[in-house]
Order: sequence, then C-alpha cells, then structure tokens
Amino acid sequence: MIDFDRVIERRGTHSSKWDNIARLSGIKSPDAIPMWVADMDFAAPPGVTAALTAELQRAVHGYYADTGSWAAALVDWMARRHGVQVDPGWVSTTPGIVSGLGLILQAVSAPGDEVVVFPPAYHAFRRIIVANERRILDAQLVASAGRYAMDLDALRAKLSPRTKVIFLCSPHNPGGTVWSAAELRALATLCAERDLILVSDEIHCDLVFDGAKHTPTMAAAPEIADRLITCIAATKTFNLAGAHVGACITSNAALKRRLDARIGASGLGSYNRFGMIATEAAWRTGEPWLNELLPYLAKNRDLFDDRIQTAAPGARSMHLDGTYLAWVDFSGTGLAPEEVAARVSQRAHIFASPGEQFGPGGETWLRFNFATPRPILDDALARMDEAFSDFRARK
Ligand SMILES: Cc1ncc(COP(=O)(O)O)c(C=O)c1O
Repeated sequence: MIDFDRVIERRGTHSSKWDNIARLSGIKSPDAIPMWVADMDFAAPPGVTAALTAELQRAVHGYYADTGSWAAALVDWMARRHGVQVDPGWVSTTPGIVSGLGLILQAVSAPGDEVVVFPPAYHAFRRIIVANERRILDAQLVASAGRYAMDLDALRAKLSPRTKVIFLCSPHNPGGTVWSAAELRALATLCAERDLILVSDEIHCDLVFDGAKHTPTMAAAPEIADRLITCIAATKTFNLAGAHVGACITSNAALKRRLDARIGASGLGSYNRFGMIATEAAWRTGEPWLNELLPYLAKNRDLFDDRIQTAAPGARSMHLDGTYLAWVDFSGTGLAPEEVAARVSQRAHIFASPGEQFGPGGETWLRFNFATPRPILDDALARMDEAFSDFRARK
C-alpha cells in the first residue's frame, strides 16, 4: 500500500512547482499552493528510489553506457500496458519530450514551415514551434458532449504547401480527452493525403481513468507508420519530470536517421545517467505503484470537480478521461477572466495555469493540477470556496 496522503515538504528543494511560484505568478504569500505545472507531489515508486539509492551508494557517477536495457524496459512496458510491439531499433532517446519535439522539427521541416496544433493545447508546443522559427497553424478543437473533438474538415481547408507537421497530444492536455481509434485513424488519413508528419505526444498515456482506454496512434493507424513519430516517457507517469528523459519512436529508418543526426549535432547522444536509471527502474518496477495511483487521482478529480462547481457556481470542469490536470471553464460564472484569476491567485493563493497560455479557446479557463496529497487538495478547495464566498452570496 502506497501512502499517497503523505505530505512531503517540497519548498526549498529546487522544486520548480513550489519554488517558482512567486517569480512566475506574483503570489508572494508563503502559504501559496501550486496547481500549475504537471508534476505530482508524491514520492516516486519504491523501485525507483531503490535504484537511485544503489547508484548513490556506489558514489561513482561516470558516463552512462547504453547497453539497450533502457529501450528494452520501454518496449516491455508498451507491450504490457498498451498492447503494442515496439522494436528497440525504432527508439531515439532525448532529454525529454519537448526537446525531442524541437529536434523533430529540425529534422523534418524548415524555418517558415507550418506546424499544426490543436488548441487549447499544451503551451510548450507553441513555444518550441516559435523558438525553432516555424509557424503555428491552429486547428481549433470543438467541445462536443463534454469532451474535445477535432474538426478535420476545417483543418483541411487551412492546410498549405508549407504545412509539414502535426503535433497531436494524446491523451489531450488540457481537457484530458482520450482519442478514439476512429478519431486517430481519421487524422492519420489526413496526414497521408497531405504528406504530413504526425508527431503523437503520448506522455500522458498511462494516466487514464475509469475504463477509458488509451489507443497508441501506432496501433490505431499502422498504415501511416512511415510518417509517424510517437513520443513516450516514464517521467509523467512515475513523477520523474526532473529526470528529463524521453523517447521518440519511429519505424521509418530514414526518418529516424534524420532525427538521430539532429540529436548528434546537438551533442545529445550521451544520456543523463540518473535519468536513465530512474526511468528504467520505473518501467520495470513501477506498475503496482501506478495501479494504486490511478484510483487516488480519480478520487481527487471527482472531489475537485464537485467542490469547484459548488464554490464558483457556473464554473464547469471538463470531464477528464486522462491526465491529472483539471480544465475549468469559468465563463458560466459571468465574472471577467481577470476577476476569476485575481480571486484564485490573490484570495485563495493558488497558482493555476492561465487558460490563455494554451492558445485560442483557453481564455475563460484555468488549469489546475490536482495530483497532490488529499490534505493539500482539501486546503486548496477550502480556499477556493472562501475566495468565491461573496460571489455566491450575491447570487
Ligand atoms: C503533452 C506534454 N508533452 C510534454 C511534456 C513535457 O515533457 P518533458 O518534460 O519530457 O519535456 C508535458 C508536460 O506537462 C506535456 O503535458
């Protein structure tokens, strides 16, 4: 039994989530609660701690020799958890997914080319596209039956000869949409029709709740294997974001060579020893921990949704099938987004991610990370209740 209720003090530990609050949000209060960036406040799986402890006790931390055991652990995980057969020869290791996305862009596109994203979408997609001097092509998601859907006809009409790549987030962040095999196949058809590379960022694939099932794009649409790159990591699943290790997977050998050339050109062919040890141990030993984590997170999601909607009448959470990032629309409160933001940050002292960060369609939304021990979640929800108490009284 893992004690996910245990509160671990993270202030003053070089935690970006906790120690960057004042700098990034302007919330100066020492009791501020961070509900922004996607890392969890739980201890890593015991097998990860054991592997890192063994490394620390040996106390020699020289260059890492990649013997293939890391990719083998990834392959076993993907087969066991997601029913897909990945060949270890398809795997390129990168210092995280976002760096992998940048390297992919450099490998398959040129400055000025267009890259499709489906907003509201993970903000680093936008950042890495612009930083690589490519252009963002927004394919607005539409909310339908309480979840997001892609409007591929609208996207088709927008594509140009400069459109080269699609960044898909699967499951989707924010909004927690788990794409169906049919939706993925429809997108794959579009990619084949218009000669586009599809990058399927599946970093949240293991964080799926209540009978929803993640379908790897490579399983849904094997017919586009030659134009598909799947991004996978153990870091989100097992709360090892600081380990900064990810994988880009493609069965297209020529495409992989182009990507590996970019990895080599940036001197990234030698990997972070601690990250490799931690993430391999996670895939090999972390499954029981994950199996206990998921119901804990699902309960947090239900508590959060219930209480946020009571605290701020009119606020609505999108029903998450995956991720631990509640996506809440405050437009139904009738309050201006600035007022909602001020109540959350200045009265509740909660740092949530502003919806506008995720691109068009996010303006009236806030994203809240609820992957925290229940005593912290309870405190946050009590503060939200207080922050909107006069608003409720006016109604
Ligand atoms: C969709 C998505 N991709 C990538 C990342 C970050 O990956 P990394 O830390 O490996 O760069 C996140 C983190 O929240 C994410 O939500």
